[in-house]
Amino acid sequence: MVVATAKRLFLRHVHILDSEPLYRVFGDAEVMRFGDGVQTHDWVRAWVGRCLAQYQQWGFGPYVVVEQQRRELIGYCGLFYFPDVNGQPEVELGYRLARSTWGQGYGTEAAQAVRNYAFNVLCLSRLIAMIDPQNTASLRVAEKIGMRYETEVMFAGYTRPDHVYVIARS
Ligand SMILES: CC(C)(COP(=O)(O)OP(=O)(O)OC[C@H]1O[C@@H](n2cnc3c(N)ncnc32)[C@H](O)[C@@H]1OP(=O)(O)O)[C@@H](O)C(=O)NCCC(=O)NCCS
Repeated sequence: MVVATAKRLFLRHVHILDSEPLYRVFGDAEVMRFGDGVQTHDWVRAWVGRCLAQYQQWGFGPYVVVEQQRRELIGYCGLFYFPDVNGQPEVELGYRLARSTWGQGYGTEAAQAVRNYAFNVLCLSRLIAMIDPQNTASLRVAEKIGMRYETEVMFAGYTRPDHVYVIARS
């Protein structure tokens, strides 16, 4: 199911055959530098299963990003429910794209489309992004879609806090 469209992209629900193209994203060390590291084929298949469960459980989740002209899956951008971020529930806007597509504005375009879907269709009132302060590209995407730094959050097992960027529905 398509949830959002942008000038050059559309975003749709993940399906069972997406795990191969998604491996190009999750299997690339540079793409996974800020995250949990390179993942295996099995992990990606399990991730696809978790996405399908999240649509059922939460009513939203991660969406795959498809480049319209080539009909090519280039990554994901979507919504993640966190029951406790510094003591309150939050919805995170998260994104990760194949390295070959970086620097062409796709990250910003996808994040804008998901932000609009979250506010205008799902009627959410607030979104956050939790970003390693060294992840300049991700910070810029957050800023370019109107998010602003609010605070830090420290998750168990992490060595340094993430920065929490926030946008409220206007
Ligand atoms: C974050 C990510 C999705 C951005 O995608 P993208 O398509 O390259 O982003 P855009 O082309 O829309 O660029 C957005 C801004 O970031 C800047 N940018 C992109 N890559 C950059 C880099 N490596 N270093 C510094 N700035 C960078 C761009 O110049 C642009 O800013 P500008 O308009 O002021 O020039 C992509 O880099 C990625 O998938 N990274 C790995 C996964 C990840 O870290 N995800 C976030 C986890 S919190």
